[in-house]
Amino acid sequence: MKRIFMLAVTFGIAPAAAQTPPDGQFSPAQIGKGAETFAVYCSPCHGERMSSPEFFNLKTFPPDQHSRFVNSVTNGKNAMPPWRGQLKPEDIEALWSYVVAGEKQR
Ligand code: HEC
Repeated sequence: MKRIFMLAVTFGIAPAAAQTPPDGQFSPAQIGKGAETFAVYCSPCHGERMSSPEFFNLKTFPPDQHSRFVNSVTNGKNAMPPWRGQLKPEDIEALWSYVVAGEKQR
């Protein structure tokens, strides 16, 4: 199953369901892309490697709330600006993989 998922990601044909696989099924490439995007757009507030204690601690973001993540990041939330102008949906999916699995797998 894991292999099939990786293949699907490799060829860019991941079905919608594959965007929220159970923990541990994100490809290292996707997590890496998320980490890069995070360093550029998110770390100024959320801290390098999600370390900032000041704002919402992303390490505690519930891993079963994918649509809340996409919605908050796309449209913003209170003091956080919306990112829909800067980030494509696939960038936000990569961020999601990083937030859910990234710092746990390193
Ligand atoms: C300008 C500072 C700032 C930047 C840059 C920023 N955030 Fe935030 N973020 C915040 C603040 C402040 C909150 C808390 C919002 C609240 O709940 O009032 C937050 C909350 C969140 C939440 C929780 C939302 C929820 O549903 O409770 C997520 C997820 C998040 N940020 C992801 C990101 C991602 C991903 C990026 C990079 C694309 C990013 N943030 C960049 C300031 C920022």
